[in-house]
Amino acid sequence: SIFPSIYYRPINPNDLDRLEQIHRDLFPIKYESEFFRSVVNGIDIVSWAAVDRSRPEDHSDELIGFVTAKFVLAKESEIDDLIHYDSSKGEETLIYILTLGVVETYRNRGIAMSLISEVIKYASGLSLCRGVYLHVIAHNNAAILLYQRLMFRCVRRLHGFYLIKHQHFDAFLFVYFINGS
Ligand code: ACO
Repeated sequence: SIFPSIYYRPINPNDLDRLEQIHRDLFPIKYESEFFRSVVNGIDIVSWAAVDRSRPEDHSDELIGFVTAKFVLAKESEIDDLIHYDSSKGEETLIYILTLGVVETYRNRGIAMSLISEVIKYASGLSLCRGVYLHVIAHNNAAILLYQRLMFRCVRRLHGFYLIKHQHFDAFLFVYFINGS
């Protein structure tokens, strides 16, 4: 509609079909149905949905964007060398962003920015969480500019990280450090 009103909420089981469909449309990688079930049921995964409440009733709660993420133990992560540890407080964690997407007609309005901000806000509220990190394919300029604008730091280029249709592509590893890491 002309005046969208975007809301952010957790992803729930009613989102299953739409979530799968958007992932199929947006990503060159195939995700298993097990992944989608874990997301909608919140099993080891945290997620946020964006919806446009100004759409007609039967679409006003339909996903137009999403972010999914999971917890990783900092010392078992691939960036354990970049984390500042304080063993007196307990086990440090990180949040790893699995997927982020906004449907095409809703792009360039700051929705992805808001979704990632939700993840950062959530992570910042966890005393043992040291950061948020993710991989992005090296030619995805839109996503790379978004992470740079949000003050993520590019810490690594991983050669041949992605295998898509028998072809290897590099990835960048981006990290947003929190709670003094
Ligand atoms: N070209 C250049 N910069 C862009 C673009 C673009 N097409 N899109 C976003 N940006 C950058 C800009 O810096 C922008 O800030 P500005 O508008 O003030 O200049 C900033 O990102 C924020 O843009 P948003 O409007 O918040 O981004 P949007 O809601 O359009 O979503 C996204 C961006 C998620 C990358 C979208 O294009 C998309 O869904 N793409 C397909 C799926 C994808 O690539 N997902 C990310 C993969 S990485 C991962 O999942 C971990």
